[in-house]
Amino acid sequence: MSRYFLTGAAGFIGSTASERLLKEGHDLVVLDNFNDYYDPALKEKNVRIVKAIAKEHGRKYTLIRGDMRDAKLLDKIFAENTFDGVISWAAMAGVRPSIEDPRTYVEVNVLGLTNLLEAMRQHDCKKLVFISSSSVYGNNQKVPFSEQDPVDRPISPYAATKKAGEVLCHTYHALFDMDIHCLRYFTVYGPRQRPDLAINKFTRLLLEGEKIPMFGDGSTSRDYTYVDDIVEGTLLSLHYLEDHQGVYDIFNLGGSHPISLKDLIAVIGKEVGVEPVIEQLPMQPGDVERTYSDFSHAKEILGYDPQVRIEEGIHRFVEWYRKEYGPFKGGYDGIIDLLGNTTDSLSVTEVLAQIEKEKVK
Ligand SMILES: NC(=O)c1ccc[n+]([C@@H]2O[C@H](COP(=O)([O-])OP(=O)(O)OC[C@H]3O[C@@H](n4cnc5c(N)ncnc54)[C@H](O)[C@@H]3O)[C@@H](O)[C@H]2O)c1
Repeated sequence: MSRYFLTGAAGFIGSTASERLLKEGHDLVVLDNFNDYYDPALKEKNVRIVKAIAKEHGRKYTLIRGDMRDAKLLDKIFAENTFDGVISWAAMAGVRPSIEDPRTYVEVNVLGLTNLLEAMRQHDCKKLVFISSSSVYGNNQKVPFSEQDPVDRPISPYAATKKAGEVLCHTYHALFDMDIHCLRYFTVYGPRQRPDLAINKFTRLLLEGEKIPMFGDGSTSRDYTYVDDIVEGTLLSLHYLEDHQGVYDIFNLGGSHPISLKDLIAVIGKEVGVEPVIEQLPMQPGDVERTYSDFSHAKEILGYDPQVRIEEGIHRFVEWYRKEYGPFKGGYDGIIDLLGNTTDSLSVTEVLAQIEKEKVK
């Protein structure tokens, strides 16, 4: 049994990984500021599910509502706790919004990370998995992308902050013997995916009978990686660090099967059972042309071996989406909550009227 500190773990990937760690028998302390980059109610729901899993498995799960920019808070957390390892997902994570608000991206992703590294250094906590991104490759022309490729040409503030994070991590490794892995995730999808990301957005639009906005001619491509594979790779990295000293390394975690935007829309349309109506729009600044991972380094050192191909992953995502959102706002869970809250005091007619109000128009 180990005890880990996780940042940003109320979000999509961090909450999924939390479940896995609790099931493996570990205790967790989690920091998240529940920001409103997307609906914080989704993060609250993730946390409710994770708490239930902690209870079921008899593990300790401590949630701290706080901010990476709060250096004093981070120092206090490390002064009061001993951790076997840290995974840091907390970040402003959007490419396009980072162009509008670069300062916040630098404050959270660079200063916030520095606060974490400082707190770890001060309190002698040595093992960190830092979550970076394939965005650092910018418009790399050589495919697949290898960790050896130069990453000095990011094309969004978001990518620049992730590159800065990797460089800071190396500095702390060199100066203070911290063991650190930087994991470059390639576009992650699956249940709980952020609503701003393509697969979630396209599924919603198709189910609502709306047009699909396609930026560019549909030839841009992404190496989509299923969330369970990403979580597996991340935990392999964490456990590797626990067993090794003198480590700083960077790993691509991808799926190595890029798909074009046009083909992706077709796959989702087929799964949802709706013929997509596409509205072609200009390419967005900050968006790279392609991502394509060479994950042989992660395979060799960590044993990372992604299993879920895009068709299967989309199938699982759409299944989850239908269950989650059903025909009602808040999905079937929302209706059960509603009934639980109302049946005592309302008549059947009133309950039915409430349900009618909750229906997605
Ligand atoms: N989803 C992807 O495709 C993808 C790809 C590459 C890299 N990543 C990286 O993976 C990590 C997790 O991404 P995700 O998709 O789960 O995003 P997410 O937004 O669902 O999760 C990030 C979490 O961090 C929290 N957070 C943000 N700023 C914070 C702050 N100042 N203090 C404390 N908590 C804060 C948010 O509230 C959120 O819960 C991020 O670092 C992201 O950059 C994601």
